[in-house]
Parts: sequence; structure tokens; C-alpha cells
Amino acid sequence: MKVISSISRLRREVGLLKRKGMRVGFVPTMGALHEGHLSLIRKARKDNDVVVVSIFVNPTQFGPGEDFSRYPRNFKRDRALCKAEGVDIIFYPSTEEMYPQPYRTFVEVEQLDEYLCGRSRPGHFRGVCSVVAKLFNIVSPDIAYFGQKDIQQAIIIKQMIKDLNFPVKMKIMPIVREKDGLAMSSRNTYLSEEERKEATVLYRSLCLAKDMIRKGERRPGRIIKKMQELIENTSGRIDYIEMVDMDSLSPIKKLKEQDRVIIALAVWFGKARLIDNIIVTVR
Ligand code: PAJ
Repeated sequence: MKVISSISRLRREVGLLKRKGMRVGFVPTMGALHEGHLSLIRKARKDNDVVVVSIFVNPTQFGPGEDFSRYPRNFKRDRALCKAEGVDIIFYPSTEEMYPQPYRTFVEVEQLDEYLCGRSRPGHFRGVCSVVAKLFNIVSPDIAYFGQKDIQQAIIIKQMIKDLNFPVKMKIMPIVREKDGLAMSSRNTYLSEEERKEATVLYRSLCLAKDMIRKGERRPGRIIKKMQELIENTSGRIDYIEMVDMDSLSPIKKLKEQDRVIIALAVWFGKARLIDNIIVTVR
């Protein structure tokens, strides 16, 4: 396994492999790897000849006052995990390598960032799209792997790939959860023992919503209110709970048969802002 920090060297190495006809799978990450990341890496390993994982805590996707400086970083551990999964190349650039000064170009996908996390994290998806566009240009993968955990991110990047004609196929993989249902996240390490127990309410509230729909409830307002009540029994502070259309990400007013909707939420526990979602087909 190679660890490469320079863009030009990464390009040379991948170029060499691609000219031999090898198919390149790519998993972009910010490190602090867990089973969620590893599920993407395993899928990439299965589908491709070469697997590239990037580890870069991207400053442009963090807002002022967000957790950029305290985001968990543990390169040694990440490197060992990648090695064990048979990763071929880790791309591990510095901030200076990715954003040499002056840096002035950003990618923005319109509208899809107006809902869900986009509302409470202005500029976040602009930072995500810009770094992912750069990574696609640097790595030139055949297939890139993303998690449903960050469903809005995945949908926005899919739109960017289409709009900007990136020659990249995208695969979205299911959410990997702890035994008690909590979605795996690098940010779970911010939780105290008590908060960690309470945080299971996120998935429980999503299951409650799914159950209400299954039993015939078609009014998003009613469902969201029940989820709210469940979460308000804990110390969690709700950022948003929304039921949105799979394609436009705009809020749904009334559920109809065969609708495929995303129920998504963000809740603060102490210093951790946690997100989760499920996709439900109404029937
Ligand atoms: P990061 O949060 O490290 O996540 C990297 C990838 O792992 C994302 O596609 C994310 O959706 C996926 N992932 C995280 N937790 C998961 C889980 N429990 N189950 C399945 N997949 C999971 O997302 C980012 O980094 C950044 O925004 C990035 C795309 C790298 C751009 O900086």
C-alpha cells in the first residue's frame, strides 16, 4: 500500500495503472475511519482492480465555529485499517497541497442545498462539492463510493457529476449502524456515555415514522410531531426533522402511494451534531 501526499505523484501512479487497463475505485473520506467507511472500501475492493482512499479533513466545508479544529484525526490507525482492507493507495494531502494560496474557485450545486443540512450549514455543500470535484480531477476514478448516511451530500454530488460531465460512476451504499441502531459516525466520539445512550433516539424516531406510514398515516406534520415528542424526552436539541422528495429534496406536503421519500434529521447532543435518515416507499 502506498501513501501519497503529492497531487502530481498521485496522478502519475494512477495514470500508470489506468494505462494498463485497470479499473479504479475511489472512496473519499475525512479519516477517523469506522465500519461505515470500511463498508465503502470493501465494496470498492470487490468491484475494482485498484482502490484509492483519500483522507483529508477539508477546511472549506466547515463553517466558522464548527468542529474543524477538533475533528478526530488518527492517521496511524486509519493507515492500518486501510492496509487490512487491501487498499492500494491512500491519498493524504496537506491543506497547502489542496488549497495553494491564492485559491479562488468553488463549485456550487443550486437548490439542492436549500433544505436539510444546507439550511443550517450555509456554504457546507459548496465546500464539499469543490473538494470532491478536485479529488475527481486528481484521482480520475472509474467509480466513486459514497454513503447514504450523508444522503443530501450523495444526491448533490450525483447532480454535480451529471451537470459537469465527470466521467465517474457513483455508488451509494447503505448506512452502517451500531447494534443499538445509532448510525456510525466519526462525530460519535464527541458523545458522553449518557449522550451516547440517548442518541439511539434518532434511529428510534425514524423507525417510528416508518411504522406510522406503514399503518396508513399520510400527513408529514403528524409524523414529524411524534418524532419530535420522542426526541424531546431526551437532552437532544433538534436542528431539523424533515420529510423530503428523493429527487428535489423539497419538503413533502402529503404522502401518496408509491412516493419514495427521505425522512431525515439532525439533532444536537452536547457538542455533537448527529444526522440520520431513512428512505421509505409509501404503500
Ligand atoms: P466522511 O464523513 O469521512 O465520510 C466519508 C464517506 O463515508 C461518506 O460518503 C459518508 O456518507 C460515508 N459514511 C459515513 N458514515 C457512514 C455510515 N455509518 N454508513 C455508511 N457510510 C458512511 O463525507 C465526507 O467524509 C466528506 O464530506 C467528503 C465526501 C470526504 C468530502 O470532504
